[in-house]
This record gives sequence, structure tokens and C-alpha cells, in this order.
Amino acid sequence: MKILITGRPGAGKGTQAANIVSYYNIPHISTGDMFREAMKNQTELGLLAKSYMDKGELVPDEVTIGIVKERLQQKDCETGFLLDGFPRTIAQAEALDGILNSLNWKLDCVLNVEVKKEILIERIVGRRVCKNCGATYHIKFNKPKVEGICDVCGNPLMQRKDDTLETASNRLDVYDNQTAPLLAYYKEKGLLKEVNGDQKLDDVFEDIKNVLGGQN
Ligand code: AP5
Ligand code: MG
Repeated sequence: MKILITGRPGAGKGTQAANIVSYYNIPHISTGDMFREAMKNQTELGLLAKSYMDKGELVPDEVTIGIVKERLQQKDCETGFLLDGFPRTIAQAEALDGILNSLNWKLDCVLNVEVKKEILIERIVGRRVCKNCGATYHIKFNKPKVEGICDVCGNPLMQRKDDTLETASNRLDVYDNQTAPLLAYYKEKGLLKEVNGDQKLDDVFEDIKNVLGGQN
């Protein structure tokens, strides 16, 4: 199963990606998580990514394409993968087509988690993530059992630096200008499947399983 999950910032891509990869047993490739890991390790890539992410801007295509190309060539991707947050521009989508062609692979499906823009700011500013394992929570919609502590590994939760009102608003604009055109790109290829992300977390996942049903 080779799939993409796309959607506006805060739509629930990461939350549903965690469900999908554990259900279908495929690797989760999130460019946002890869950049955050590089930032934590203060690598050259991390410092570069930070200068864009802190403003809610996209990291340049050539950098992002390079890390995805390298990741897709690793052995665990042979049987399938879930790409989360990539591609995000038409140039990235075209580059991905080239990478997949060179490996003789085809995408099975592009899932678009659709959520109206108006409710996303509340989701983004209320998000909390585990410093250690990256598990995602929300102060109102997906609370941890103990406030401020990760259910999975017991480490403290934190707020992402790009989850402020100002940066989140810019991320939503960047999505409209640079990422939204991907929907037409994948619709034309017959790969686009819409999922209503404005439902309870479990119901969104039920819909995703229905959409993906029968594929492996
Ligand atoms: P990235 O990390 O990909 O962030 P994003 O696209 O802005 O998406 P988010 O992670 O904010 O949201 P999500 O859809 O995963 O939602 P989540 O499940 O967490 O990218 C960050 C930055 O990295 C970019 O701005 C850019 O700078 C850079 N970058 C990354 N990829 C790049 C690329 N390809 N090219 C260039 N630059 C790139 O859910 C959000 C909150 O809502 C959580 O609190 C969750 O608990 C809650 N929630 C989820 N589902 C529901 C629900 N159904 N009901 C109620 N609450 C819910
Ligand atoms: Mg995410």
C-alpha cells in the first residue's frame, strides 16, 4: 500500500497517519517530523528547516525532495509507505512521480482529509505533542489521561513553536497558495479520495479504512 495523506494544517493528517501505519503496518514518512527531528539534533538540515518552519513558510523544494528520495530508497518502503505532508507543491508532486517511476512503483491512493478552514486554528493552537515520542494530543479534543503527560511514554507534552495564532494563519495561507493545487493534480490522475475530517477521531479513521478497504 503506497499512499499519501494530505490536507490543511491541523486537519488531522498526523493523527490519522498514526492509526493507518499501525493498522496496515507500513512506515510513516512525515517531512514535518523529519525536519523537527533534524532541528532537535541541530544538524545543518535542522537549522535550515527551522528558519522556514518558524515563519510557517515551506522549506525549499530541492531540500525536501532530497530527503524524501533518500527515505523512499530504504528497504522498509518496498512493501508500502504513507507519506504525510509531502508533496506540498506541484514541483514536489512531479519530483515524486519521477522517484516512483525510477523505482517502478505507483501510488495507490491520495487521501485528502477535508476540514473547513474556520475550525483549524482552534485545533492547531490547542495541540500538544510529546517531546519524546511525538504522540499528538489536544487540550480539548484529544486529552491525555494525565494533563501535560504523554499516555504512551510518560514524558512531558509541549507546544510546537509553529502552533501560534500568527504562524498558523500563515501556514493556512501557504496551503491555499501552494498546496491546494495538488488536489486537482491528483484528481486528474484518478487517485484522489476525500475523507471528512470534521468528525470524531475514530469516525474519521473508520471512513479512511472504508476508502482504503480492499487494497494492500
Ligand atoms: P507539518 O508538520 O506537516 O505540519 P502541517 O501540514 O501544518 O500539519 P500539522 O502537522 O500542523 O497538522 P496535521 O494535519 O498533522 O494535524 P494533527 O493530526 O496534528 O509541517 C510543518 C512545517 O514543516 C511546514 O509549515 C513547513 O515549514 C515544513 N514542511 C513540512 N513538509 C514540507 C514539505 N513537503 N515541503 C516544504 N516544507 C515542509 O491534528 C491537529 C490537532 O487537532 C491535534 O491537536 C489533534 O489532536 C487534533 N485533531 C486531529 N483530528 C481531530 C478531530 N477529528 N477532531 C478534533 N480534533 C482533532
Ligand atoms: Mg502533522
